[in-house]
Amino acid sequence: MARLQAERHFFDHLFLTRGTPMSDDNLKLKISALRKTYGPVVALDSVDLDVREGEFLTLLGPSGSGKSTLLWGVAGLNDPDSGQIWIDGHEATHLPPFQREIGMVFQNYALFPHMTIGQNIGFPLEMRKMNRSDREKAVMRVLDMVKLGHVADRYPRELSGGQQQRIALARSFVYEPSIILMDEPLGALDKKLRDHLQLEIKHLHEQLGVTILYVTHDQEEAMVMSDRICLMNNAGIEQIGTPEDLYFRPETVFAADFLGESNLVDGIVRETNMKCTSVEIGATTTIQALPNPNLGAGEKVKLMTRPEAVEVLGKGESRVNEITGTLREVIVGGGATKLFVELQSGATMRLTQLTRSATERLSPGAEIRLGWEQHAGVVLAHAELESEL
Ligand SMILES: Nc1ncnc2c1ncn2[C@@H]1O[C@H](COP(=O)(O)OP(=O)(O)O)[C@@H](O)[C@H]1O
Ligand SMILES: [Mg+2]
Repeated sequence: MARLQAERHFFDHLFLTRGTPMSDDNLKLKISALRKTYGPVVALDSVDLDVREGEFLTLLGPSGSGKSTLLWGVAGLNDPDSGQIWIDGHEATHLPPFQREIGMVFQNYALFPHMTIGQNIGFPLEMRKMNRSDREKAVMRVLDMVKLGHVADRYPRELSGGQQQRIALARSFVYEPSIILMDEPLGALDKKLRDHLQLEIKHLHEQLGVTILYVTHDQEEAMVMSDRICLMNNAGIEQIGTPEDLYFRPETVFAADFLGESNLVDGIVRETNMKCTSVEIGATTTIQALPNPNLGAGEKVKLMTRPEAVEVLGKGESRVNEITGTLREVIVGGGATKLFVELQSGATMRLTQLTRSATERLSPGAEIRLGWEQHAGVVLAHAELESEL
């Protein structure tokens, strides 16, 4: 409830002044050594983050990892213990929210119930003393952008959840803020609507070229929408990079596990150089993977592969990496089929294939050969996951 009040408070004081001119670099937002505690709880532990002009950057991570605390720090809705926040080259660490040139969208819409949709969207413009006819034009423009031009005179309670959230989006865009912050804006919607609005927000971002800092705990949502993903874990940043970087080149077991599905098989580094790290799996198999210069020979590691990058090899087919196993289970789930294969070491590898007709499918018990390319394997420092299945 305290949060809801803070959200209302935020809108009550919205957007009153403009900042001073930009500095020369094209960083929209710079965060350095930001720390925030709540009593004994460290919610953010010395976080550094740069967000570029026009970028769609997503804070992704499990519940409690500090995503909202970081976003709220940028909004000016919580007071950091130490560290700095720069917006458009100006220090904003202790500026009140209304001086930060930001728009914000929360999970629970935060529309004013006693105002019409048009008044809700026009509110930030009214606060900035825009005249009525300009205001009405601006409101209609963003309403059309979210394809709800016909609801201007209705009240929030007359709209569905998805429509209300589109209104909240329109309101965040309407006065062209410097940065738009979104905290799990689609979290309360059902999956179909969420998928639809993910694309709608992505397209609005492309059209408007605004900088968006987005929070979600849903890895698929982050992959679909973001230019870069900042993966958070335990009050800090685990890894930051493009969706491709995080998916194909995770740097930790946590990152590999959090994004997509992964096979994590125990191994020991045999050799590592600039081109390749080779890993022994079980007694007889050596696997070649992407180079990881941080690991040394003899070190205990996890070898990560993605289920769709591992193939069942037919007669005469070969790959850089091959390993034999026993097919234990085949699960047909619509378009994709999952295979569970037990290796000689006792480890299980999961494979994902496009679903084939029943006659072409392998049966449990079959001895099969698996293969994958060197670039499909990533070697990670050994770590146990808290929630290992
Ligand atoms: N107002 C608050 N009072 C006390 N603890 C809080 C408060 N807000 C967040 N926390 C704690 O800070 C940590 C990070 O929370 P939060 O930033 O909300 O995580 P996320 O958004 O990633 O789920 C959690 O341990 C949470 O319980
Ligand atoms: Mg949160």
